[in-house]
Amino acid sequence: MAAHTGAGCAPSGSWDTMEDVNEPWVEPSPTATALLLLGRGGDPATERGVECPGDLPAPSDPDLVARAAAAKAALGDRVFVLGHHYQRDEVIQFADVTGDSFKLAREAAARPDAEYIVFCGVHFMAESADILTSDRQKVILPDLAAGCSMADMAVLSQVETAWELLQDLGIAGETVPVTYMNSSADIKGFVGRNGGVVCTSSNAKRALTWAYEQGQKVLFLPDQHLGRNTAVLEMGFSLDDCVLYDPHKPGGGLTPEQLRDAKMILWRGHCSVHGRFTLDSVNEVRERVPGVNVLVHPECRHEVVTAADQVGSTEYIIRAIEAAPAGSAWAVGTELNLVRRLALAHPDKQIMFLDRAVCYCSTMNRIDLPHLVWALEELVAGRVVNQITVDPVTAHQARVALDQMLALP
Ligand code: 13P
Ligand code: SF4
Repeated sequence: MAAHTGAGCAPSGSWDTMEDVNEPWVEPSPTATALLLLGRGGDPATERGVECPGDLPAPSDPDLVARAAAAKAALGDRVFVLGHHYQRDEVIQFADVTGDSFKLAREAAARPDAEYIVFCGVHFMAESADILTSDRQKVILPDLAAGCSMADMAVLSQVETAWELLQDLGIAGETVPVTYMNSSADIKGFVGRNGGVVCTSSNAKRALTWAYEQGQKVLFLPDQHLGRNTAVLEMGFSLDDCVLYDPHKPGGGLTPEQLRDAKMILWRGHCSVHGRFTLDSVNEVRERVPGVNVLVHPECRHEVVTAADQVGSTEYIIRAIEAAPAGSAWAVGTELNLVRRLALAHPDKQIMFLDRAVCYCSTMNRIDLPHLVWALEELVAGRVVNQITVDPVTAHQARVALDQMLALP
């Protein structure tokens, strides 16, 4: 069985604090690993006919690197830049702190002196930062199109319909709503006003343990996989204890008996990036690379997590690779920017993407250097662009659920 941990992923090492923002960014050179740098070379097994024969220029305009560094220096301590582990290299070099979504939420809450928090991540993370910071502080998302398809799979009206159904069945009172951080502020507000908690991939077990101390059932939003993997692999539930609520079907596609009997009501949401890893990906890499360690994010499907050697949040994945012995081989099932950086940072280990077909999170990648430069230069000019604000009532209710998460033992 997979060893899941993620609890207490404390910061350490160069991944967490990128202070050398004045160093010019250098296009990394390829390594001998199985992972190809995009746009260079070719993999005959997966990329027939698409190899680029030329020497490509660096993807970033060097002027933009200098402009970002200058704008950041001009803003000084007034700005604090947070970078999620899935961000592009050209962006993450300007992050004051990098982390998983739990660590970034804590970092945002711990910076009361920063006038501006520039969030290099996705919309739900920036909303959470706005909720956790004071009214005086402004949270900026450099590209407003940086959303999350999983978060979009739970809409407040759908969740309220589901809750009304549970009320009609007389089981809402014993049900505790738990939402993954990857959800909109109004879903977090719903959870807060109904006695629930937010969780991330690094504290889902602790959040569920708390929730089952408050009630007999959990409504888990919006990621069915994190909910199922945590319930079955960490809480000792069986797959039969879980039911899948489909918001697009009447009654969620479930009978009243199924809802009454379930311990875990999973929302039918998923991550399109992690959903691409399959049991075949795991079997194929084990055959191709004898002795390989399979390390995946808990947003992967249950059969993938069950077949993996280790599972954990992005912060956990980094830590596991850092601790691995030289010469070991790792197939990592998470977003490509992170896997690619891990491969480049550990040339003594063989690090590869779990699937032969590489995949970025398209919305995380919306934050690019031009958008970051624009957002920073506008701040220097005294203009706040792309500010993320959550209305005060929603923010108050969501904060209850976020504070509950931050207070988990
Ligand atoms: P982490 O909390 O592990 O960083 O995951 C966030 C996310 O969006 C993964 O898809
Ligand atoms: Fe959302 Fe998946 Fe992208 Fe994470 S990787 S931000 S869950 S779409």
